[in-house]
Amino acid sequence: MENKNIQVVRTVADLRSAVAAFRAKGKTVALVPTMGNLHDGHLSLVREARRHADVVCATIFVNPTQFGPTEDFDSYPRTFDADRAMLESESVEIVYTPTVSEMYPDGFATAVSVTGITDCLCGQARPTHFQGVATVVTKLLLQALPDVAVFGEKDFQQLQVIRRLVTDLDIPVEIVGSATWREADGLAMSSRNRYLSDRERAIAPMLHQCLTQLATKITPGTDVCPLIEEAIKALVDAGFAKVDYLELRKECGLGLLSQYQGEEARLFVAAHLGKARLIDNVKIR
Ligand code: PAF
Repeated sequence: MENKNIQVVRTVADLRSAVAAFRAKGKTVALVPTMGNLHDGHLSLVREARRHADVVCATIFVNPTQFGPTEDFDSYPRTFDADRAMLESESVEIVYTPTVSEMYPDGFATAVSVTGITDCLCGQARPTHFQGVATVVTKLLLQALPDVAVFGEKDFQQLQVIRRLVTDLDIPVEIVGSATWREADGLAMSSRNRYLSDRERAIAPMLHQCLTQLATKITPGTDVCPLIEEAIKALVDAGFAKVDYLELRKECGLGLLSQYQGEEARLFVAAHLGKARLIDNVKIR
């Protein structure tokens, strides 16, 4: 059922009073942080949030501090009216969409930095990214003080960074990871898929196919290095310009594995296709 009474709030004070009004009625609250330009993958996070709490608060904030100097902050699509309509169709109660100066007022000088697990994977090509994510997510959690917050497993490293900071900073919230939402051909949904030309869009599902095929070849005792080299070559032959990484890592702590020994592990990939840098991961079963 649509919720035409969706409350759009733009300040920390208004967010807190909107949340407090629901709390006064005994309701629990789930937070779904986003950067907007919503697609079905985001709506799957909203539905997951709904399973965990009475009230859903979605945030829309294109966070400048998680973009590198040559990245797409300026061109990142801002589509508030369409986003709002999608959130209304999911009966979301609160949309929090602060301005940059509300989030980072003059004099702002604090950063949240998670060490170790941010050095590898996307942290290599995007050295300032996770500090930006950790800082804004910490702020969003402290601003809304939800019972639960939901993040997608497509950004699995981000999810681990958020779990780490919540544990380390004693933030009283349950972090829920939600399975990657995919197009029919397997491509992980992402706002950046909109950068793909028709030709690139036809190539893009190779990324997930490559991971799933590779995953079926990995059993306890497998030496993964030759398989990974072969898969990188296949991606480049298919038209990906550059593969930033294709690696097998432990889920817990993200340690690199060259031999699989049956632990909880995932294959992670990031590759460039036209203007888009696509990421994906699959669990080894
Ligand atoms: O995953 C995202 O969209 C962003 O990194 C997040 C978690 C909303 C922080 O800006």
